[in-house]
Amino acid sequence: MCGIVGYIGFNQAADFLLDGMAKLEYRGYDSAGIAVIGANNVIKIQKKVGRLANLEAIVKQDPNEGVVGIGHTRWATHGRPSDMNSHPHADENMKFAVVHNGIIENYMPLKEELLQKGYHFKSETDTEVIAHLLADMYDGNFEGTVRRMLDRVDGAYALEIICADEPDKIICTKKENPLVIGLGKGENFVASDIPAIINYTRDTYILSDGEIAIVTKDSVSVSDRAGNPINKKVFHVIWNAEAAEKGGYEHFMLKEIHDQPKAVRDTFGTHISEDMSQALFSELNWEASDVDSIKNILIVACGTAYHAGLVTKKYIESLARIPVNVEIASEYRYSNPLTDSSTLCIVISQSGETSDTLAALKEAKRLGARSLAITNVVGSSISREADQTVYTWAGPEISVASTKAYTTQLVAGLLFAVYLGQLNGKLDAALAKDILIGIHELPELIHTIFEVDEDMKAFAKHYGFKTDAFFLGRSIDYAVAMEGALKLKEISYIHAEAYAGGELKHGTLALIEEGVPVIALATQEDVFDKMISNIREVKAREAVVIGIGMKGDEEIAKHVDHTIYIPRANKFIAPILAVVPLQLLAYYAAITRGADVDKPRNLAKSVTVE
Ligand code: F6R
Repeated sequence: MCGIVGYIGFNQAADFLLDGMAKLEYRGYDSAGIAVIGANNVIKIQKKVGRLANLEAIVKQDPNEGVVGIGHTRWATHGRPSDMNSHPHADENMKFAVVHNGIIENYMPLKEELLQKGYHFKSETDTEVIAHLLADMYDGNFEGTVRRMLDRVDGAYALEIICADEPDKIICTKKENPLVIGLGKGENFVASDIPAIINYTRDTYILSDGEIAIVTKDSVSVSDRAGNPINKKVFHVIWNAEAAEKGGYEHFMLKEIHDQPKAVRDTFGTHISEDMSQALFSELNWEASDVDSIKNILIVACGTAYHAGLVTKKYIESLARIPVNVEIASEYRYSNPLTDSSTLCIVISQSGETSDTLAALKEAKRLGARSLAITNVVGSSISREADQTVYTWAGPEISVASTKAYTTQLVAGLLFAVYLGQLNGKLDAALAKDILIGIHELPELIHTIFEVDEDMKAFAKHYGFKTDAFFLGRSIDYAVAMEGALKLKEISYIHAEAYAGGELKHGTLALIEEGVPVIALATQEDVFDKMISNIREVKAREAVVIGIGMKGDEEIAKHVDHTIYIPRANKFIAPILAVVPLQLLAYYAAITRGADVDKPRNLAKSVTVE
């Protein structure tokens, strides 16, 4: 996820570009750059790794003058954060400059083709192919060339392109990534998101997938891919600037909960074969012998990522039949561990910077383990330290409470488990296909869960002022219960505990009394009846029970006070769905109690101290 901006008008473009990029830094902030068409129609690019302030200092020293320009604040996808990998990218003759938010999936074959034709690449990015492709296909007509170039690229994108030969326009288009055009008087603005333009205009066109906009200082003409004109409706923005940054949601956490369908889709991305029969990891490129040499797997992580590790253990043990141990990173470091060269150490970390996780990874490597990172931040310390990395594509997560990072970690973990099971031959082909189809359907299924929003709000109002809550589950549901309890604790400050259903009677049942809220997960068919027995145990002590079950399992409703149904899904997919109502419950409980949802007390987003 990156942020892009564009300006064409009568003011210095750089002023708007830098200001707009500052408003989009929440979309990514590992590097930034601008391209402006200046005197004699020369395109001048300035770009710098690091926060926007680094670029601002360069522009201050060496002003980039001109009234047409594009800008980009980057969240690295292809290629680590560096000056060279920063956008904008240009062709060798500086005829075209491009900024891009998204992923060009077929960039490798395109790059090979262009290399063979003698084009030289300066960066490791997928975006640079667009600049060279435009140069290669250019026939003197900017718009026509862009249209033909689009026929050749697959993937997701929001694109802005400028051309030195036609300095009176910016051409932009989008597919699966956002793009808005701000309508001014004698000037127009382009941006990934409304916060960048809200201080300049409130009249916008929200581009839809496949639309191409030709933006000049006095006009914006939009057409479809075939060139048919489209009559866009003006969308008048009524949010204030702060709400706009959160996409109209009251808090980043709620926005990020609602980002999950896209985050999940971006994460499974190219990891599922077209016929849905194979899990693919071209970034790993393992063979059967790579898996055979792994005798045990160690997962280390902290907090929510640790909970994702617990679910991933179930995935790997069930699907690839390799023993997995999950350790809290800060415990692992000092446990004199039994790791050796037969161990694959998987570290899971949203930020890729958590100090305990990084230290545990170093310790596992010192003991001879192979290592694999699952992280959300390209170029992060953990991705650099690990032998190999699988990225989640949740985009920047701003709220301290992790939501979309967790669900994407589960998706990555499940895909990796299928990959291992297929490589070592332990996974039945029909089950693999069922799971991969299930992952593919997840974005739609998560959308349907948002329908429980009102229910969760009502429960939170009812039970939000209780001092304790319990989360119960068996098998994979127990790991999800732990995540549900952590979410509730960290943002609402309600004391919450997660228990394995069968463990209650060994002590905790003593705490269950009239009116205590219990959230009971019952999505796992093989332990469903056992879970119903546990629910009856707490009901007999007059707890108030919210049951989370799968559509079609009507039995649960007979034993609980309220039922929340998630869509029917494969048992490995169910945890990725079941956590969503728990995230919403925690969110609304925090609202009910007036807590600072996005910045809970005593916590930080990235814990870089031991
Ligand atoms: C809780 C939460 C934390 C993080 C933990 C690890 O909502 O976000 O528990 O999961 O601090 O952080 P990363 O994943 O960045 O290593």
